Amino acid sequence: MKGVILHGGHGTRLRPLTHTGPKQLIPVANKPISQYVLEDLRDSGIKEIAIILGDVYPEKVKEYYGDGERFGVRITYIHQGEPRGIAHAVGLCEDFVEEAFVVYLGDNLLKGGISSYVKEFSESDLDAMILLCEVVKPQLFGVAKFDDEGKLVGLVEKPKVPPSSYALTGIYFFRRAIFDTIRRLKPSWRGELEITEAIHLLLVNGYKVDHRIVSGWWKDTGTPDDILEANRLVLDELQTRIDGTVENQSSLQGRISLGSGSIVKSGALIRGPAVIGEGSMIEGDVYIGPYTSIGNGVVVIKSGEIENSIVMDGCVIDVNDRIIDSIIGPNTRIVLDRESKPSGRRFIIGESSQIIF
Ligand code: TTP
Repeated sequence: MKGVILHGGHGTRLRPLTHTGPKQLIPVANKPISQYVLEDLRDSGIKEIAIILGDVYPEKVKEYYGDGERFGVRITYIHQGEPRGIAHAVGLCEDFVEEAFVVYLGDNLLKGGISSYVKEFSESDLDAMILLCEVVKPQLFGVAKFDDEGKLVGLVEKPKVPPSSYALTGIYFFRRAIFDTIRRLKPSWRGELEITEAIHLLLVNGYKVDHRIVSGWWKDTGTPDDILEANRLVLDELQTRIDGTVENQSSLQGRISLGSGSIVKSGALIRGPAVIGEGSMIEGDVYIGPYTSIGNGVVVIKSGEIENSIVMDGCVIDVNDRIIDSIIGPNTRIVLDRESKPSGRRFIIGESSQIIF
């Protein structure tokens, strides 16, 4: 079976982070979200993978994944450009795939992975298999409709009145019948070819479509809150690993991963689960609280406190304040100016940033 990772879209809800790269490369627990996807495919035995590129810095995706060898897979890149819909992106894979294939949205995370579904689908004669997850707000997703006997009879995209609480996750198993169906689609009100509609058409036209309900958590990381939640979910499974230096008078509590070349100075308190990348420096008096991911080459100075946050590579944090629930893009400096008059906050911030005091 071959795999397809969708790496396009505009990621408008994640601006300003998506002004400088695709959202799927945003790190969760210090690893790009789409790398979890790629590794899930690989660990399920899928080594031939197409990555569908959008128009938000697609070269950064190619630079990171290359030909895939570093990750133990072979990658083919297919350009979609403008986001014309998930079904449009799937349609671009017609020449790449053979018989059965799996499509995985590059910003979706699934606890437990897909390997059992890969095996099941490849041994089946189904035309499509979808994974559903019970959610609190189904109206935000494609939603499954069942008949009185519990048989899947349809799918509706973002319905005002959801026919069930089961959302369509971003993992779809298909055989080639999907391509003819995609060719028959018309753009929806939002100008996209909708995969929900394509699968609905398969169903009502008598193709074999089945569903499975996922047992662990599933996370679609479309918004900043989703990214922070995904970070918490992944850190919940973190194993302790200390490759860096921990000075005597510092305190590490709970599960912590500290990368090589990183230093936690005397006086610092780190309470896990938390991950700190390579070559970072946590100075004395600093507190790093649970569910925090600190990237590579980050410096946290003075008596700063950071909790439930993602701090990306190359940042400098030097404040006497507590930073919570934050996502801080690479090479950002947040520093306290102790000298200058008049005193006050000074900002140099890009479009669509958020500052919440
Ligand atoms: P969305 O989150 O629906 O779209 P988006 O990335 O444009 O985000 P926003 O609404 O914030 O602007 O996309 C779901 C996933 O599918 C995501 O991984 C991006 C990917 N995608 C494509 O690769 N091509 C497309 O044409 C679309 C619509 C999405």
